[in-house]
Order: sequence, then C-alpha cells, then structure tokens
Amino acid sequence: MKTTQVKQKESRTMDRSRSLHKRRLEAVPRGPYNTTPIYAASAKGAVITDVDGNRYIDFAGGIGVQNVGHCHPKVVEAVARQARQSVHTCFHVAPYESYVALAERLNEITPGNFPKKTMFANSGAEAVENAVKIARKYTGRPGVISFERGFHGRTLLAMSLTSKVKPYKHGFGPFAPSVYKLPYPYYYRAPEGMSPENVDEMILQAVNDFFIKDAASDEIGAMIVEPVQGEGGFVVPSKNFIQGLKKICEQHGILLIADEIQTGFARTGNLFAIQHFDVEPDLITMSKSIAAGLPLSAITGRAEVMDAPEPGQLGGTFGGSPISCAAGLAVLDIIEEENLVERARQIGRTMEERLQQMKEKFDLIGVVRGLGAMWAMELVKDRKTKEPAKEETVRILEQCWKRGLITISAGMYGNVIRFLPPLVIRDEELEEGLHILEEAVSSITQS
Ligand SMILES: Cc1ncc(COP(=O)(O)O)c(C=O)c1O
Repeated sequence: MKTTQVKQKESRTMDRSRSLHKRRLEAVPRGPYNTTPIYAASAKGAVITDVDGNRYIDFAGGIGVQNVGHCHPKVVEAVARQARQSVHTCFHVAPYESYVALAERLNEITPGNFPKKTMFANSGAEAVENAVKIARKYTGRPGVISFERGFHGRTLLAMSLTSKVKPYKHGFGPFAPSVYKLPYPYYYRAPEGMSPENVDEMILQAVNDFFIKDAASDEIGAMIVEPVQGEGGFVVPSKNFIQGLKKICEQHGILLIADEIQTGFARTGNLFAIQHFDVEPDLITMSKSIAAGLPLSAITGRAEVMDAPEPGQLGGTFGGSPISCAAGLAVLDIIEEENLVERARQIGRTMEERLQQMKEKFDLIGVVRGLGAMWAMELVKDRKTKEPAKEETVRILEQCWKRGLITISAGMYGNVIRFLPPLVIRDEELEEGLHILEEAVSSITQS
C-alpha cells in the first residue's frame, strides 16, 4: 500500500460527522455508546461511506451482523418486496408464510439430528431470555449456568448471565436469581506451565464440584455457553472442553444452550461454531447476521423442549416480523449460493497469516487467535507479565478509523482487537484493511 493513499486518508475532513456528533451529545444519553465518531451515510459490501464522503473498510460489520455484506442486493430486494406486500400483521394475530418458512430452514440447517422447532424474537438478548424460559418450563428447574467472560445481552436475565461487571452490570443490580458462573478456558492466561489439557481438566472438575458445593444438579435447568467467546475476547476453547460440558449436561439432565448469536451464519468457517466441536446442543440462540441488519433473533431446539411452554407463554408484538423473516430467508440463500462458509475459511487463513506476521514484528501483540473469519489480537504491555494494554488498544482503534478502517475491541480487560469483516469482502479490501491495521499498530509502538 502506498503511503500517499494513507496520508490522503489522514487529512480527511469530518465536518458533518462532527456537527452530527454535537447534536447527538445533546439529544442522546451517554449509555448507548459509540466506538467511533463516524456518522454513516451508506454502506455496501465491506465498505462504509460517512456523511463527509470518507470511505472505510469495515472490519466490524455492525458487530458481527453483516456476514453477507451491507445492503446485499438480494436482501434489499427481499425487504422491498415484503414491504410492498405487508409490513406487520403480528404473527400472533394473522400469521404469514415467511415466519414458518424460515423456521423450517433453521430446523433443517442447525446441528442436531432430531426433530426441531424454531421461534423468533427481535434481539440477541431476547433470544437468550426465551431460551432460558423454555428450558425452565421443560425441566421444571430454575437454575442456569453461564461462564466467566460470557456475554449474553443487556436485559435483566441476559445481563445476569453476562460476566463482565464494568460497564455491563455496574449499578444495575439486583440481578436475576439462580444464575451461576463457572470458569471457561483461557489458555493464554493460564498459570505458567499449565497445558491446555490441564486447564480443561481443572475446569471440568470445577463444574462437577459445583454440583456438590453450590447447587444440586436437579436444580439446574440449563447451561448457556458461547462456543467461541465473542465480547469475552474471541476465546476459542478446545473440543475436549465443549464435549466435556455436553457430557456433564447429559449426565444431569441439564439442557445445553449454544449461544451462537455472534458466531453463527458461517462466521467461523462452519454454519454454526458448535459444529467444530461435534456437539449437538439442545437449544441454539441466533441473531446478528441472521437477517443482515434487520432486527431478528431465533431460538431453535428439540421439538419437545420448544413445545413445553403453553400457547401465549412465548412471543411478542414484533418477534419474527415479515420483513426480518424475508431478509433471513435471503441471507440463507446468499450463504449457500456464494459459498460463504468456505469464504470464511479463506479469510481466516489470510487473517491468521498476516496477524501472525504482525505478532512477530510488534511485542505489543501478546497473542493472536481465532476460528474461521473470527480473529483477534490481544495486546499486552509486556509479553512476560501479560499486563493488558488497554490504552494502547484504544489508541490503535482510533488510528485505524482515522486511516480508513473500522474495527472494535473486546475482552475482559478491553485489550483485544477483534475482526468481524463481512464475508463478501474482496481480497484487495481485506488486504487494505490489514495494511491499515499494521500501520496503526506501528504508529502506536513508535510513539
Ligand atoms: C454471544 C452473544 N449473545 C447475546 C448477545 C446480545 O445480543 P443483542 O445485543 O442483540 O441483545 C450478543 C451481542 O453481542 C452476543 O455476542
């Protein structure tokens, strides 16, 4: 990449974004945060254009929502067609085919060789809430296990299942009862000398001990786990760990809920991340990339489990809206037609190679890790002490957007930079984004 191109990007004007941001600060509270001050005017594929006409490569995808790319023509067409036909009749009042058709397709493509049923809601948090309601009703048990560094949303129950205190939970208690947190492997930060196998063994033992120390297994209805932790910092566990959890669930009659809200829809180089571990969960929560930006979430699970709640016990005014379901059907077609599962693997190979090279070059990068097209770098002040480099992370993100790349952070310590580019990203766009990233890291390490 020529430096002239990057220089030109540094001198970009942001007058309109700035003026909109001033209005935003007056009109909108601080709580709904912004990771960049860039106001989007349009977005296509893997590129966002702001209101000042600046172009950005998008490595955030609206936080993992744009696996099929911004404004995919097929999604736009499906949405427009549906909007001309009907926008909302409410599934509970006058149901429609797209809801049923999308449920049928999800029942077919989600892992699990057993009869399944699917219901829809609007957001990831709502999917999590409903999955827990369904599991409690089916098992008659109130307890739910979630994991350290897990993120499941911002509503009361989802927030209670979430692990990071600041900012997600601080000052918002009391939290929902009967929620228990157990450890999840973090091989990079394991005590020195401890192998991944030892870590798994220790944690699985802790899960077993939990039933002696904290709650009887017959009081636990569900265990919710991200097959790869998203907000937690793209932490990839071993097959042994996920299979160990499944075994424990089976032993105790606990339902395993795979939270695939960030990992689903081809992101990890499989349609669903749990497939990497050869585990069939009882319930799966999905959202984000399910409908390319239209608000939609889904819970798919064993038919007999999904049917436990009685008519009227589940639902909501907007859940599975006709427009969102039309977009969801288009997304599934696109993933298949454009072979995005394979594309995610290719993107992952390129990212892994380039990020490993960057790690060789910059001591600030403690580790790079990922699965499929879900990669991240964890930044540390010192490779030996592994002290998290949070300030440097913030500065790199700023240097990225100033140079034309949008990317976001993650991690318990806010020191992970994660990459969730649309899977339709072109090779030259991917290269451009990685080049900007390298320049941004370099600018911080030299200053
Ligand atoms: C794994 C996971 N679960 C749940 C959620 C919550 O989704 P939403 O923000 O749509 O409520 C998220 C959002 O980042 C997530 O990554």
